[in-house]
Amino acid sequence: MEWGMANRMAQLIQTDGHALFLPVDHGYFQGPTRKLEEPRKTIEPLLPYADALFITRGVLRSSVDPDNTRPIILRVSGGTSMVGKDLANEGIATSMEEAIRLNASAVGISIFVGTDYEKESLLNLSKLVDEGERYGIPVMAVTAVGKELDKRDARYLALSSRIAAELGARVVKTYWCEDFGKVTRGCPVPVIMAGGPQVDTELKVFEFVYDGMQKGAIGVNLGRNIWQSDFPVAMIKAIRAIIHQKATPKEAQELFGSEKEMKLKKS
Ligand code: 5RP
Repeated sequence: MEWGMANRMAQLIQTDGHALFLPVDHGYFQGPTRKLEEPRKTIEPLLPYADALFITRGVLRSSVDPDNTRPIILRVSGGTSMVGKDLANEGIATSMEEAIRLNASAVGISIFVGTDYEKESLLNLSKLVDEGERYGIPVMAVTAVGKELDKRDARYLALSSRIAAELGARVVKTYWCEDFGKVTRGCPVPVIMAGGPQVDTELKVFEFVYDGMQKGAIGVNLGRNIWQSDFPVAMIKAIRAIIHQKATPKEAQELFGSEKEMKLKKS
């Protein structure tokens, strides 16, 4: 691996081989998502606990100070919205030149396997990989399922993840699912887990993150289940403990509880 590519990968994946990415890119197709309405307010308290930020250029420029030293994964696909005809019909919305100008450590793009725009999204990924490899910038593929959340099973996610790796993604972001080992075993590049919509309890989040780590994920790219929590800093600290300190769900829950108590006492 070229020095530049290896150096950027090392910025993203920590020395223990694990990573906690914080995604705040949701507005690029959802608009002002709940608790991300004012991105700076959401991002600032969480940034010290994230290994990298997954973000669009617009929110990066407007809501993160340039003296930030956390690695940036730039969301570069887009062009569709929740209310448009088809979420899957994305293109590359930000150039590699812009990613370099913004000093991005990686770029991220969604693929939509099994949709009408499967081919376009996969060829967009390939094109981005060609450009990224030229400049030493890793590409993270996002195995998006869009509105069709019923596709969140091991068979579909393993298929999407493997295709993303075959086309050259350096990291694949997918969802946790039952039989998650099937997804990681079939994917020859590092796999990280997204969270999807907020789940009922913190413990459920800790349990799926822990399970995914046991089954071969290297970390998370977890957004709403962190920053839509009433106690986002407690949440990210607890998840960080699972990713980087091998905490069990029970230990993560205890840490969350004590951080929450401290926060309540201070307010
Ligand atoms: C949005 C994304 C998000 O980065 C991804 O879904 C992770 O966020 P969450 O944990 O909230 O699902 O790709 O398009």
